[in-house]
Amino acid sequence: MKLLVTGGAGFIGTNFILYWLKNHEGDEIVNLDKLTYAGNLENLTSIEKNPRYSFIHGDICDSTIVNKVMEGIDKVVHFAAETHVDRSISGPAVFITTNVVGTQILLDAALEHKIKHFHHISTDEVFGQLEIESHDKFSENTPYNPRSPYSASKAASDHLVRAYFHTYGLPITITNCSNNFGPYTFPEKFFPLAITNILEGKKVPVYGDGKNVRDWLYVEDHARAIDLVLNKGKIGETYVVGGLQNGISNIDALRKILTIMGKNEDSIEFVKDRPGHDRKYDIDWSKIHNELGWEPIFTFDEALKKTISWYTENETWWENIKSGEYASYYQKQYPHS
Ligand code: NAD
Ligand code: DAU
Repeated sequence: MKLLVTGGAGFIGTNFILYWLKNHEGDEIVNLDKLTYAGNLENLTSIEKNPRYSFIHGDICDSTIVNKVMEGIDKVVHFAAETHVDRSISGPAVFITTNVVGTQILLDAALEHKIKHFHHISTDEVFGQLEIESHDKFSENTPYNPRSPYSASKAASDHLVRAYFHTYGLPITITNCSNNFGPYTFPEKFFPLAITNILEGKKVPVYGDGKNVRDWLYVEDHARAIDLVLNKGKIGETYVVGGLQNGISNIDALRKILTIMGKNEDSIEFVKDRPGHDRKYDIDWSKIHNELGWEPIFTFDEALKKTISWYTENETWWENIKSGEYASYYQKQYPHS
């Protein structure tokens, strides 16, 4: 089978490609990526000479390139997106272009090339937020209620994907996953920002009161969920994917990181809250569990230790990022740090 992966030079796409090539020996992967600030080919040097892997530098909004790469493809796994909520607040336009228009261009090309299965990677943020005290969880039946330009753009893309199924019969599936963590996460996201700041002897900026709750999942568990949906998922269906059973607050997650890294709470710095900051996400992943037999393999604590070890052992990877273009983003985002 030949897979087209979009956005494979980013965090989850990289982990997915490495996972897939290891676990599906006969398959080939074509990776289409624009290499935005978040795309990094260094992630994939271990497979760049693998005959089952090829890279195409291109934009999902460019229909000429997209139609060319779709030739001979069996299945598409669509990760490419602008993904950072804070960046969507300071500059929403590119989120609409890539996440909405880019997805529509891929869907048109998938129809044209009679793709057998188009799998769209989405987020739990499309459902909005839960109250901290609430015992509710997001499921496949939760109404959409996105609250940031990022989540609104992802919601729009989900609607388009479903519309192409109902209107044109394009064979699609969607997964809406909670917060991922693990190797190769760009250090703008909370966990790698915390770990690398601690390694640099800097404080960790915590938004608001630090009590916002997230449902964290180790990235390899997400890759296995996508694998199951691609192989056994029912066409036209959506599956929500999550990790922790009751989530964890940012401050408690940070305390765990500090303990593992042998630091105390002097490293915490409370900063101005993110506008429209979603209070809590929590996922009821019983559908994918009951229908496809998926559940997370990694415990949160064990995966956190693995992730911290990876950043500790791969200083050059994140130092290159932090000393480049990202440094001026950091200055603007955290002016008082
Ligand atoms: P990322 O920001 O690390 O990587 C995004 C990748 O997409 C980069 O390689 C980038 O170069 C590429 N890209 C961006 N615009 C492009 C364009 N116009 N054309 C081609 N390539 C382009 O993102 P990630 O965290 O790996 O997220 C991947 C997908 O998973 C996204 O769709 C995101 O919404 C979804 N998701 C992420 C999380 C999470 O916790 N990170 C959780 C649930 C869902
Ligand atoms: O839920 C899935 C989503 O998870 C994905 O769709 C997004 O692409 C991904 O970026 C992530 O969104 P979040 O906004 O939840 O992730 P982030 O790592 O930016 O923030 C996690 C929490 O930590 C959130 O409550 C905000 C907080 N935070 C974040 C940063 C960057 C801080 O307290 N300080 C920070 O400096």
